[in-house]
Amino acid sequence: MKLSHMATAVALVVAGSAAMAGEVEVLHWWTSGGEAKSVGELKKIMQAKGDTWKDFAVAGGGGDNAMTVLKSRVVAGNPPAAAQIKGPAIQEWAAEGVLANLDPIAKAEKWDSLLPKAVADGMKYKGNYVAVPVNVHRVNWMWASSDVLKKSGVKSMPTTWDQFFADADKIKKAGFIPVATGGNAWNDFTTFEPVALGVGGVKFYNDAFVKLDPKALNSPAMKKSLETFRKLKGYIDQGAVGRDWNLATAMVIQGKAGFQFMGDWAKGEFVAAGKVPGKDFLCAAAPGNAGSYTFNVDSFAMFKLKDAAAQKAQADLAVAIMSPEFQEIFNLNKGSIPVRLNMDMSKFDDCAKLSAKEFVETAKSGGLVPSVSQDMALKPAMTGALKDVVSQFWNDDKMTPETAMTNMVKATSNQ
Ligand code: GAL
Repeated sequence: MKLSHMATAVALVVAGSAAMAGEVEVLHWWTSGGEAKSVGELKKIMQAKGDTWKDFAVAGGGGDNAMTVLKSRVVAGNPPAAAQIKGPAIQEWAAEGVLANLDPIAKAEKWDSLLPKAVADGMKYKGNYVAVPVNVHRVNWMWASSDVLKKSGVKSMPTTWDQFFADADKIKKAGFIPVATGGNAWNDFTTFEPVALGVGGVKFYNDAFVKLDPKALNSPAMKKSLETFRKLKGYIDQGAVGRDWNLATAMVIQGKAGFQFMGDWAKGEFVAAGKVPGKDFLCAAAPGNAGSYTFNVDSFAMFKLKDAAAQKAQADLAVAIMSPEFQEIFNLNKGSIPVRLNMDMSKFDDCAKLSAKEFVETAKSGGLVPSVSQDMALKPAMTGALKDVVSQFWNDDKMTPETAMTNMVKATSNQ
């Protein structure tokens, strides 16, 4: 080939790939150590495809800040290519007409056969895919520092609330903080949820938080749940107000605190700090939570875009998220389990294996319930109303359980 011809050929190839490669702007709230490592894996996969990753990270566990920022961007007519949106909020965004139809990709990639049906249904609006799921997080976990338990004479993870408080007393006596917790409305409900599920059981949880039945919201089981929740407050430290969840996890990692109630994104923090499950830290269902599983499926909704290169990059992102490579590496870092069915779990630790086993078992037994605190059960406005009441109760020691229950019924009455 003559040199000039070669130059033309090279120029064509370069021009071709430049036209294919696009920028993908991704809004998320994964800014803690473990979370940032996990999302970094997605960035790497996208860059390997030749796409440009534009990070749109808005800090704040649970994503409340991120959702506020997203709204203003969409209202301004300038949405990102993808945003971390999950649960019933997917339907609300789709109803606004701003989400892209991913069916051509979903059909080509056979998503219907690769996902549990209930998860796939949640990603669709009027039968069309508008979002892609990333993982399954279990929320009703309790994490513990092996060191603190040992030094306090606690031999195993407590399985009942009575046992938990007895152990928490021992930890306090030994000079440690029994429970590490963050302090904001999202974190408060994340702690309250396994208390209510453990105290009241699955039927009560569903009636109260999924069906918003006033008889369950104002009931002896709710009263006992609130009392247990308040008792728990006697075991946290003064510095909890305003603290981020990952800083609470750090207290367990550093052997300052015994327990934390948090979803398994906390495991992402332990692992990022080089800690080994079963050795340095322990995982178990929260007291009274064995046989039930509060699930939290993270997902990315894709927005309608005009530019062809951006659309191509967005499609690359959707394909990447569902790929077995991504599902493995991301979830190994994130603390969650793959949402894609039939994945090889051999590289995962025992906490993840337990989660995978119990996800399947509780789906059969009826113990699998959507996490309210992680926006899986209710429309965002309703979740927000419940979170506010629980947070007010947590922060105001004078508020009676009766007042909190009346407020819960009031706050959720105009569904
Ligand atoms: C949840 C999200 C998790 C986790 C957590 C803390 O809402 O689903 O992936 O990152 O927030 O930021």
